[in-house]
Amino acid sequence: MLQKLLVLVFWIQLAWKSTQQLEQNPQFLHIQEGGNVTMHCNSSGTFTFFQWYREKPEQGPVLLMTLTKPKEVKEKKRIRAQFGEAKKDSSLLITAAQPGDAGTYL
Ligand SMILES: *[C@@H]1O[C@H](CO)[C@@H](O)[C@H](O)[C@H]1NC(C)=O
Ligand SMILES: *[C@@H]1O[C@H](CO)[C@@H](O)[C@H](O)[C@H]1NC(C)=O
Repeated sequence: MLQKLLVLVFWIQLAWKSTQQLEQNPQFLHIQEGGNVTMHCNSSGTFTFFQWYREKPEQGPVLLMTLTKPKEVKEKKRIRAQFGEAKKDSSLLITAAQPGDAGTYL
């Protein structure tokens, strides 16, 4: 029988521009292996482009996805990132989460 593992995904904020208000949800979350998770970031200002990174302890941030166009959707394996129509927000969806997905998302 397959053992279900608890996957921990942390979510903290990195970029903070004095002229922009940034909001990221959720800040911390725990998910079951195999579960889906969506993270959001929205801003009062417009982004010229948006990048999602994952960072693990003792490692530098790894670039997951770069979005440059309004409403752009990019998919890599189980990760799907979407840019908002006004380039003010972005979401990251991870499907069928695995222990290797644990980390800090920036
Ligand atoms: C996760 O998302 C995928 C693709 O959208 C879907 O097929 C699957 O049923 C979802 N799993 C759960 C646990 O919600
Ligand atoms: C981000 O989105 C939420 C929900 O749509 C909204 O309540 C909030 O005001 C937004 N924040 C910014 C900075 O745009």
